Amino acid sequence: MDSTNRLWYRDAIFYEIPVKSFYDSNNDGVGDFKGLTQKLDYLAWLGIDCVWLLPFYKSPMRDDGYDISDYYFIQPEYGTLDDFDEFVEQAHRRGIRVIADLVLNHVSDQHPWFQEARNPNSPKHDWFVWSDTDKKYSQARIIFVDTEKSNWTWDPIAKQYYWHRFYSHQPDLNYDNPEVREEMKNVVRFWLKRGLDGFRCDAVPFLFEREGTNCESLPETHAYFKELRSMVDKEFPGTILLAEANQWPTEAKAYFGNGNDEFHMAFNFPLMPRMFIALAKEDRTPIVDIIKQVIPIPENCDWGTFLRNHDELTLEMVTDEERDVMYHEYVKHPKMRLNLGIRRRLAPLIDDDQNTIRLLHALLFSLPGSPFLYYGDEIAMGDNIYLGDRNGVRTPMQWSPDRNAGFSKCDPEQLYTPVITNPIYHYESRNVETQSRLSSSLLNWLKEIIRVRKKYSDVLGRGEIRFIDHPNLKVFAFIRSYKGKSMLCVNNLSKKPVAVELDLREYVEWTPIEAQTSVPFPKIGRLPYFFTLSPHAFFWFKLTSPTGDTW
Ligand code: BGC
Repeated sequence: MDSTNRLWYRDAIFYEIPVKSFYDSNNDGVGDFKGLTQKLDYLAWLGIDCVWLLPFYKSPMRDDGYDISDYYFIQPEYGTLDDFDEFVEQAHRRGIRVIADLVLNHVSDQHPWFQEARNPNSPKHDWFVWSDTDKKYSQARIIFVDTEKSNWTWDPIAKQYYWHRFYSHQPDLNYDNPEVREEMKNVVRFWLKRGLDGFRCDAVPFLFEREGTNCESLPETHAYFKELRSMVDKEFPGTILLAEANQWPTEAKAYFGNGNDEFHMAFNFPLMPRMFIALAKEDRTPIVDIIKQVIPIPENCDWGTFLRNHDELTLEMVTDEERDVMYHEYVKHPKMRLNLGIRRRLAPLIDDDQNTIRLLHALLFSLPGSPFLYYGDEIAMGDNIYLGDRNGVRTPMQWSPDRNAGFSKCDPEQLYTPVITNPIYHYESRNVETQSRLSSSLLNWLKEIIRVRKKYSDVLGRGEIRFIDHPNLKVFAFIRSYKGKSMLCVNNLSKKPVAVELDLREYVEWTPIEAQTSVPFPKIGRLPYFFTLSPHAFFWFKLTSPTGDTW
């Protein structure tokens, strides 16, 4: 691990893991830290630079660990603090960094803080947001619309309503209380001292409430994150804060602050759905328009780009028309919808079309931002829409054709949730062992494309982007360039083959060299450069000047 690379997150490939789903070392049916440690060599083989761990803190698990009942304790099925320390140490030995979820906005209603707070005379009462009516902050939207009718829930013991932006069993902490602000800094200190490399900060827009606003991304919220950043920079230099702020471009960008005083990274929520919309419409415009809105950002910051994650594919920050396009194209059964989104894994979402999966990854790895992969998507794992909530995309990792997909040796009925046995995605064929033996598999392809992305990580990771304008909207072409080096990326967003002519005159006499295979293509001349692309195909070219170059 290169500790001198202060901007390591701008070059990194991230991989998201729920501890319970990855590997079960003690055969109790639930994944654990010891199991994760055993699978680090796999992550290193794939080329992963940083793991993002979903919440592993003590929890009644009514929101898969996002409902924390003790921030300083590990969920017992996942192991012990020693197991956690060993995991972080072994990851670092392999050059892999580790960031973890930090749930700041709310706790479980089982947390002793909330239990105590229910007594209006207790010192903890003010740690939460109470009201005698359920009418305050009426402009705040409801996020889990399928389950919650209000952001207020009556507590019969306190005889008041308490505020919650998510499930009613997740009361929001009151960030107007200085003790809360300080305590959450202590949580951050506790885990960073144990060697974590940073945090994915959950639900950041919602920390404060103010009457007459939508209670999202308020100035007070930014001010708190600035306080947190300054503490982290002072006490744990080199560690990062990543924002989960599902917001429109301007509000999402605001989380970078001045580049040095708030978040290092933020998820590119604006881009994610628009990649799928562009595919559905066979039109590059949604991607081009949104990227123009999310760049530039400060030099020390980066977007975290992603295709899928552990939640539903969220459609909160798209227009009604865009949402209709998404539902029409990608929802084949009512159970595939959840809240304002689609609860599907990547492969089933696009009918397991291998060319489309590869094209989407090519976009992920060549557009500005650091890519985040979701466990299992590298083998095109399937999902189970009949499991409740978002559980259908959180099934056990498929390692081999053995019992329980090689995830656990427990009795199958003991698994925390069933493995995928649907004939298309059955674990007997769709697993790491089988795919690693097949040179043409998605897994081996992904490993290779990660290698190529890393080889060109300066240009593809840090370079500027310039779109090439031409009339065929099905073709999305752009140039990434960094310190005199340029790469040309050409993508066919259509289900059909395309022919396209690109104006590349500024590179007359240069040679495009295909980046994966190093095959030289004909030199660029004064006439438009002609490409044909098969359905959903893409090319990455390194552009080599007439004088030749050494990169
Ligand atoms: C997480 C969800 C979780 C919610 C409440 C989200 O942003 O990604 O999985 O349910 O926060 O904590």
